[in-house]
Amino acid sequence: MVFHSEALDMERHDVDSLDSGSPELDIWLREQAAGAEARRVARTFVWVGSQRVDQVLGYYSLAGHRLVRSTLPSSVGHGSPSEIPAILLARLALDARLQGRGMGAALLADALTRIAIATRTVAARFVVVDARDDRAATFYEHFGFRRIPDSLRLVQKVSDIEALIPGE
Ligand SMILES: CC(C)(COP(=O)(O)OP(=O)(O)OC[C@H]1O[C@@H](n2cnc3c(N)ncnc32)[C@H](O)[C@@H]1OP(=O)(O)O)[C@@H](O)C(=O)NCCC(=O)NCCS
Repeated sequence: MVFHSEALDMERHDVDSLDSGSPELDIWLREQAAGAEARRVARTFVWVGSQRVDQVLGYYSLAGHRLVRSTLPSSVGHGSPSEIPAILLARLALDARLQGRGMGAALLADALTRIAIATRTVAARFVVVDARDDRAATFYEHFGFRRIPDSLRLVQKVSDIEALIPGE
């Protein structure tokens, strides 16, 4: 089955179907995502298959963000102003039934492509993720994110992401 992302629509999408193995992420989608959307503090995109476009099998959320250069290692922050526009990849989760066969990578690539396109209109220098644990941080490091020492925060330059996206 082919999967794609769509903007969350609580009237159309069955958010109860998601079981990512991380209950707090599933509950956030069910209980918080619509409110965050209404208050414009996060935009959520759900991952659906071509055969059942109402059944949510993953999601991610995006929000505008600001990084303070002094919180970054100098190797990452050099060349940036003291306050740096960024995009926060606030949450990302995939249904446990789909994990372990490259679909997490596809979901992340979808989110990063959406970010790269958005930054053609509103500038941002970095993508920021706050990983929920060491395991998740290792997942992001696998895709070129650099960990801020002594934290679960990771960053990657949008320009490096753009270079990886075919046709962008
Ligand atoms: C994190 C998550 C999205 C990964 O999805 P997945 O389908 O298991 O990952 P994939 O099968 O696409 O793996 C893609 C690549 O990442 C690697 N990878 C996956 N999980 C990894 C981990 N924890 N550490 C290091 N590498 C990892 C895989 O080996 C694979 O590498 P390859 O392309 O070289 O073969 C998924 O496990 C998930 O939703 N977990 C629960 C929620 C969560 O932890 N979210 C993280 C954000 S806070």
